[in-house]
Amino acid sequence: METKIIRINPDCPDSDLIEEAAAYIRQGELVGFPTETVYGLGGDARNNLASHKIYQAKGRPSDNPLIVHIADMESLYEIAEFVPESALALAKFAWPGPLTMIFKKTDKIPLETTGGLDSVAVRMPSHKIALELIKKSGGFIAAPSANTSGRPSPTLASHVYEDLQGKIPCIIDGGKVGIGIESTIVDFTEETPTILRPGFLNSQQIEKVIGLVKVDEGLLEGNEQKPKAPGMKYRHYAPKAELTIIEGDLLEVVYKIRCLTEEGEKAGKKVGIIGSQETIFLYNQGIVKNIGSRRDELTISGQLYQILREFDEEKVDCIYSEAFQTPKMGQAIMNRLLKAAGHRVIKV
Ligand code: TXA
Ligand code: MG
Repeated sequence: METKIIRINPDCPDSDLIEEAAAYIRQGELVGFPTETVYGLGGDARNNLASHKIYQAKGRPSDNPLIVHIADMESLYEIAEFVPESALALAKFAWPGPLTMIFKKTDKIPLETTGGLDSVAVRMPSHKIALELIKKSGGFIAAPSANTSGRPSPTLASHVYEDLQGKIPCIIDGGKVGIGIESTIVDFTEETPTILRPGFLNSQQIEKVIGLVKVDEGLLEGNEQKPKAPGMKYRHYAPKAELTIIEGDLLEVVYKIRCLTEEGEKAGKKVGIIGSQETIFLYNQGIVKNIGSRRDELTISGQLYQILREFDEEKVDCIYSEAFQTPKMGQAIMNRLLKAAGHRVIKV
């Protein structure tokens, strides 16, 4: 299958071009498209065959449910059996935007889309291209991140092309995404709303709006319990090389990474380093990538997956990364980095 790339200006999307992509979705086909978090691989959420195609194209286990993307509040009530007041308040605060909420589902969404569960994950994205694509294609787009299962999520259309060329008919190229890591997921099917995946929207912000919110125990360090979001149990976001995070006082971290890099290179290894604007000039060996300034969280979240992909291409043998416990998005950034590292951490 030939994969067509449609370039669309994200600031003022051309309606005719979006219509061209929407037609594929209405016909049960798949389209890669930008959102404000990461690129999604979209199909009609009401069509079980389209959902089946999504699982196939990604090589994703079919018990891992998809997120249904909507463009208005009426659509929410068509697919969610019950929406509690607190969820409504959170929707008012964060939608359209990088928030996904889970509810009991109605029959409108087939079990194929929800990985066999009787609940459905719903998100109203803020990206102009995504919103218009959803409206033009019938109102309900099921979309996981548009990567091959196990690879970092795509933040550029070229990443989607790398992973899915020949497997899907169309990709919308809307440039680089803004946030770079996936949406925050909050489960409203339990007594106490529960964060199943940290994201741009953090637990303090959510708590301010809805009062008490729990964090899924399966996400916590050293806990045996399985995460409730099936997707969080897989070793996602995995670079091909072994990644280790070095944590502690920043200067000591740099010193440790320098020692490890020297050892690695002596042993004939190709070593990658993830450093920041503030430390980059302190490294004199290894392949060094600058993830951005520690004072600008959005450059860090926006660069993370791209850097992991670059190291894959450059075929490094191991990667050492500084830790990035930034004030607002630190939970989310470290969650993704820890998963990419298979939780390998050295504390100094
Ligand atoms: O930012 C995002 O959310 C992106 C963009 C494209 O919107 N999408 C995304 O989708 O990250 P995906 O499929 O890569 O991640 C969805 C996560 C998975 O961990 C999945 O297991 C979980 O959401 N999930 C979906 N429906 C669920 C449900 N009913 N119950 C529990 N977890 C669910
Ligand atoms: Mg994903």
